[in-house]
Amino acid sequence: LRQEEAFCFQYSCCLKICWSQDNRSSNTHISSSLTLFKVFLDMTFGAGGHTLAILDAVPDVTVYALDRDPLAFEMARRLSAEHQGRVFPVLGCFSEVSNLLRQHGVQPGGLDAVLLDAGCSSMQLDSPERGFSLSKDGPLDMRMDGGRCPAVASAADVVNALDRQALVSILSTYGEERYAKKIASAIVAARDIYPITRTQQLGAVIAGAFSPSTLYARKDLLQRPAHVATKSFQALRIFVNDELHELHAALQAAEVFLRPGGRLCVLTFHSLEDRVAKRFLHGLDVAAPPRRNPRRPAREEEGEDERPSTGDARWANVQKKVIMPQQDEVRENPRGRSAKLRAAVKL
Ligand SMILES: C[S@@+](CC[C@H](N)C(=O)[O-])C[C@H]1O[C@@H](n2cnc3c(N)ncnc32)[C@H](O)[C@@H]1O
Repeated sequence: LRQEEAFCFQYSCCLKICWSQDNRSSNTHISSSLTLFKVFLDMTFGAGGHTLAILDAVPDVTVYALDRDPLAFEMARRLSAEHQGRVFPVLGCFSEVSNLLRQHGVQPGGLDAVLLDAGCSSMQLDSPERGFSLSKDGPLDMRMDGGRCPAVASAADVVNALDRQALVSILSTYGEERYAKKIASAIVAARDIYPITRTQQLGAVIAGAFSPSTLYARKDLLQRPAHVATKSFQALRIFVNDELHELHAALQAAEVFLRPGGRLCVLTFHSLEDRVAKRFLHGLDVAAPPRRNPRRPAREEEGEDERPSTGDARWANVQKKVIMPQQDEVRENPRGRSAKLRAAVKL
């Protein structure tokens, strides 16, 4: 269960910020605030790292531990057996959480704190059979729900069934992929010969559309070479799991179920997710298209549409600026390199 405890950035920041009353985060300050927070919702239980940290830090706490992944739910059940009456495992999606909380007897306004650590877990990314990985071959699946919702389309269903234009939209919207048309054409040409069913088969099809010298020409945030299919994999994963709509549903549920003064901590890992969190907390339209200047890369423009709405504010930011990991935290956990943490108090 403790395998993801290396995510020190997530723990230290989430917990400190969640509990600090103002911009300070000294330990004495945190412990004096702990008594105020007794009922938590960990919206993204994963391998339980955040829930464990909460259990360790807060006496008499109750944690509702949600995850859509049956494997994570199983881990939450095991943890709940070890911490009788303190951990309540909940299997389902963000969009189902309101009903699920009510079934557990939690009413609107009944939560003190909500944590959301968006995206996939290391457990999912590192298991080839889950089909998220470009570096380890497996069935092209990518469903976080695993076998829970067999009717939901897998990534293989998407790449083999959708027409070229739909694939272009997915790759450009969710992967911000400049070469979406080229990649979609390569996928359509390849699947006419043979269905695309494996992760590395898709990686090879996408790679085939580029010259060998450009396969690793892109760099990630740590300036490490990134495979040319990386953005396409991100796009498919977001589409298959409807991640951005789910994130919006999670934030809306948090607003209903937190009590006034309750805290929300949201960790995001790419600009599309962070934009949803930022706009929601600032009272702006989450669905509005970004104002893009075609001459400037998207990353440069981030933050420009960030001015909070002047209407009735529903959230107050705990920190003025979004929190990002320190260099040593990234060294310890390179996957956290793009993490952004926002914490807010429900008014
Ligand atoms: C980054 S991991 C969380 C890791 C966790 N904080 C830990 O310490 O182990 C994200 C988890 O959220 C779950 N998840 C993602 N989207 C979800 C959704 N829409 N509804 C419910 N769970 C979701 C994933 O299945 C995954 O297990």
